[in-house]
Amino acid sequence: MSVLQKLREEWIRPALFFGNNPVSLAGGAITTGSGVTMISYWMAQMAGHLSSNPYLGIIFFLFLPMLFLIGLALIPVGIVLRRRKLLREGLIPAEFPKVDLNDRIFRHGIDIVLVATVVNFLVVATASYHGATYMDSPQFCGSSCHVMSPEYTAYKVSPHSHVACVECHIGSGAEAYFSAKINGTKQLIEVTLHPLVPLAPRLIPTYPTPIPSPVTSLRPARYTCESCHSPRRFDGDKLLVKSDFADDEKNTETQTVLILHLGGVDSLSHYIGIHGVHLGHIEYIATDPSRTTIPWVERTNPDGSQTTYVASALNGAEPKGERRVMDCIDCHNRAAHTFVTAEEAINSAMAAGSISPSLPYIHKEGLALLKGSYTSQAEARVKIPAGLEAFYRSQNPAVLTEKAALVQAAGKELYLLYSQNVFPFMKVTWGTHPNHIGHQSYPGCFRCHDSDHVAKDGTFITQDCSACHNLLAVDESKPKVLSVLGIH
Ligand code: HEC
Ligand code: HEC
Ligand code: HEC
Ligand code: HEC
Ligand code: HEC
Repeated sequence: MSVLQKLREEWIRPALFFGNNPVSLAGGAITTGSGVTMISYWMAQMAGHLSSNPYLGIIFFLFLPMLFLIGLALIPVGIVLRRRKLLREGLIPAEFPKVDLNDRIFRHGIDIVLVATVVNFLVVATASYHGATYMDSPQFCGSSCHVMSPEYTAYKVSPHSHVACVECHIGSGAEAYFSAKINGTKQLIEVTLHPLVPLAPRLIPTYPTPIPSPVTSLRPARYTCESCHSPRRFDGDKLLVKSDFADDEKNTETQTVLILHLGGVDSLSHYIGIHGVHLGHIEYIATDPSRTTIPWVERTNPDGSQTTYVASALNGAEPKGERRVMDCIDCHNRAAHTFVTAEEAINSAMAAGSISPSLPYIHKEGLALLKGSYTSQAEARVKIPAGLEAFYRSQNPAVLTEKAALVQAAGKELYLLYSQNVFPFMKVTWGTHPNHIGHQSYPGCFRCHDSDHVAKDGTFITQDCSACHNLLAVDESKPKVLSVLGIH
C-alpha cells in the first residue's frame, strides 16, 4: 500500500465517517466561514480597498481567528464523540464507507457544509462590517471604554471634536495600521481582564492609571497633523488675552495681553517666528519619560551646519535618553485633550461669566472647592455645590437669598470644570498631563529656552521675552490697549 493509499484508508475514510456528525459539520462551517472572510479581507486590503481602521483589527486579528480555531477544534471533538458513541453501541463497521460521491450520506454532508459556509460567510462578513464601522467612530474609541474617559471628555470640548481619534493616533499607511491593531488588541485584552486583576494582581496584565503621556508610539506629525494643517502656512501674529481674578472679596480682575509672534514661512520663504523657526530640523534628547528634562538640543541651520546646545551641567557631553525630531506635538501635546489647571479653569469660567464675579470671594472659595479631594466625580457632584452653599450660609447668608440663582449656577459650573479635568478612577487630577504650550503653569517652551542651553560659540537658546511675544499689558486692571483695540 502506498503512503497516500494508507492515509486514505486508515485516516480519511474513518475521519469522514465519524466526521459526519452535527458538531464536526458545524465546526467545519465555522472554520470555512471565518477563514474565507479573513482571506477576502486580506485580499481587499492588499488591493488597497480598505480604510486603515485599527478597530477592524479587533475583529480580523482577534475575533475571527478565535472563531476559526474554535471551529477547527469542534471537528475532532465531534469525531471523538461520535466514535465513542458508536463504539459503545457496537456500531462501528468493519470497513468504512468509500469516499464516493454516489454515497447519499456523504453527498448530504457536503451539501450541509456548503450551505452553512455560504450562510456563515454572509453573516460574519456583514457583522464584521457593521461592527468595524461603529468601532471607527470616536464614540466607540472614547466612550465604550471608560479607560479613555479623561481623553474623550477633553476631546469633546476641543477644537478637534470633529476629528476622528484615528486621524491623529493612527494616520495612514500599512505599518501604522498593523501596529495599531496589535496595540489595540493588547489594550482590549487588558480592559476585558481588568475586573479579574484583584484575584491575581501580578499575573493578569492590566492598563496603567493614568494612561501615560507622551504616547511613545504616536507617529511623526507629518503623517497626522500635517494631513490637515500645512506647516508652511504663515500665521503672522496672534493676540492673546488672559484674565486673572484675585482672592479678595471683589474677585478683582486683571488682564494680560500679548501678541504672539507665530510666523511661519513668509512670502519670501523665510522661516520666521515660533512656527517658522522650529520647522527647520531640530533634534533633542529628553532624559525623562515625560520629555520634560531636555539637556541636549541640536539644530540643523539653513546652511546645513549644526549647532548643538547643551545644558551647562553636562559639560558638553551627549546625555543618554530618547532622541527625537521636534514636531508639532512637542508644543501642541494637548491639541485634542487639553486639561487645564484649576486656576485656568476658574479664571476662564469667570471671564466668560458662567461663574459670576459678582459673588463675593467666589474665586478663592471656588478654587478651594475645585482642589478639594473627592473619591469620585459622583461625590464631587454633590459636595462641590453643597460646599459653596455652606460657605455662603456661614459667611454671608444674604448672598444665598439675593443671588440664589447665581450661587446655584456657580456650583454647577464648578462641578463641570472638575468633571472635565479630574478623573479619580484613572488617577488623573489637576496637573497630571502638563501642556507644553507656553511656560506659566508648566516648563513648556522653557524646557529648552532657559538660557542654560549653550552652544560651543557661546550662543544660547533665546530667553528674550520679545522673541516669542510682546507683552502689551501684564496683570493690569482694564488695560488701555484693550479699549484701543475695541475688546472688552
Ligand atoms: C488632533 C489630534 C488628536 C485627536 C483627534 C485625538 N488625539 Fe488623543 N492624543 C493626541 C496627542 C497629540 C496626544 C499626546 C501625545 C504625546 O504627548 O505624546 C494624545 C494622547 C492621547 C492619550 C494618552 C493619554 C494622554 O492624555 O496623553 C489617549 C488615551 C488618547 N489620546 C485617546 C484619544 C481618543 C480616545 C481620541 C478620540 C475620542 C483621541 N485621542 C483623539 C492627539 C489627538
Ligand atoms: C482631520 C483634520 C485634522 C487633523 C488630523 C488635525 N487637525 Fe488641528 N484642527 C483641525 C480643524 C478643522 C481645526 C479648526 C477647529 C476650529 O476652528 O474650530 C483645527 C485646529 C487646530 C488648532 C487651533 C486650536 C485653537 O485653539 O484654535 C491647533 C493648535 C491644531 N489644530 C493643532 C493640531 C495638531 C498638533 C494636530 C496633530 C496632533 C492636529 N491639529 C491634527 C483639523 C485637524
Ligand atoms: C515651538 C512650538 C510650536 C510648534 C513646534 C508648533 N506650534 Fe503651532 N502654535 C504654537 C503656539 C505657541 C501657538 C499659539 C498658541 C495659542 O494660541 O495659545 C500655536 C498656534 C497654532 C495654531 C493656531 C493658529 C491660529 O491662528 O490660531 C495652529 C493651527 C497650529 N499652531 C498648528 C501647528 C502645527 C500643525 C504644527 C506642526 C507642523 C505646529 N503648530 C507646530 C507653538 C508651536
Ligand atoms: C526642544 C527644544 C525647544 C523647545 C521645547 C522650544 N524651542 Fe524654540 N527654539 C529651539 C531652538 C534650538 C531654537 C534656535 C535657537 C535660537 O534661535 O535661539 C529655537 C528658536 C525659537 C525662536 C526664535 C528665536 C530668535 O531669536 O529668533 C522662537 C520665537 C521660539 N524658539 C519659540 C518657542 C516657543 C514659543 C516654544 C514653546 C511653545 C518653544 N520655542 C519651544 C528649541 C526649542
Ligand atoms: C520661547 C518663547 C517664550 C519666551 C522666551 C517667553 N515666553 Fe512668555 N509665553 C510664551 C507663549 C507661547 C505664551 C502663550 C501661552 C498660551 O498660549 O497660553 C506665553 C505667555 C506668557 C504670559 C501670559 C501667560 C498667562 O497665562 O497669563 C506671560 C505673562 C509671559 N509669557 C511672560 C513672559 C516673560 C516676562 C518672558 C521673558 C522673561 C517670557 N514670557 C518669555 C512664550 C515665551
